[in-house]
Amino acid sequence: MQVFNEINALKHALSIERKDGKKIGFVPTMGFFHDGHMSLMKEAINETDCVVVSIFVNPTQFGPGEDFESYPRNMERDLKLCEELGVHYVFTPEVSEMYPAGYSTFVECEGGITHTLCGASRPGHFKGVTSVVNKLFNIVEPDLAFFGQKDAQQVAVLDKMVRDLNMNLKIIPCPIMRENDGLAMSSRNVYLNAIERKEALVLSESLKIASSLIQDGERNSNKIIEQMKAHIMTASSAVIDYVQIVENDNLSDIDTVVGDVLFAVAVRIGKTRLIDNMRMTI
Ligand code: PAF
Repeated sequence: MQVFNEINALKHALSIERKDGKKIGFVPTMGFFHDGHMSLMKEAINETDCVVVSIFVNPTQFGPGEDFESYPRNMERDLKLCEELGVHYVFTPEVSEMYPAGYSTFVECEGGITHTLCGASRPGHFKGVTSVVNKLFNIVEPDLAFFGQKDAQQVAVLDKMVRDLNMNLKIIPCPIMRENDGLAMSSRNVYLNAIERKEALVLSESLKIASSLIQDGERNSNKIIEQMKAHIMTASSAVIDYVQIVENDNLSDIDTVVGDVLFAVAVRIGKTRLIDNMRMTI
């Protein structure tokens, strides 16, 4: 495994791999790996010949007052996990390498898809994501790029960016990985204290409630959302950011739950903002 922190050095190494006919798989991350990240890397190893993982906590996708400074980091452990798994290249740039003095170019996906769900409460977040991922795609030039479905909106926005800008790669969404009790894996779970960790289960439980209401024939979005919210509010540390049922392809709200549908929740448990979702075809 080779570790690069300079863009040109990585580009050079990957150009040789490309000339050798290797199919390049890319897993962009912000590090502090859990089994969700590892599942993306495993999928990339299965599907491609040369796997590149980036570890970069991207400042431009954090708003003022968000957790950029305190975002959990453990480079030594992350590199060891990549090595053990058989990743070929890890890219670990400094902020100054990605955004040198005078940097001023951003890529923004406009329209409802970036203004709903997390976009409503995190203005500028998706502009930061599309800008950095665009740069990373230009550096790595992958054939396939692997992203976790836990960030369903991120997947939808990046997929749209790839289509809109005719990029020569395919986004591969990978399933949400969960702890044994159902909590979706997230680097931010480490912020939760013992009580909050238990209360955080209301997110996945609310999705199970939605699923059983659908099994019972309920199709009215508002009624399902009401019951999901009522369950989430049983946790004393919970503050709901959103509970929405949207069309999976354009993320617009729906009144009647039919078709390819995404149930999405974002909840603050204490100071920690958590998200979860469930996709269903009804
Ligand atoms: O999902 C993440 O970890 C980040 O948003 C990403 C895609 C690595 C961009 O910084």
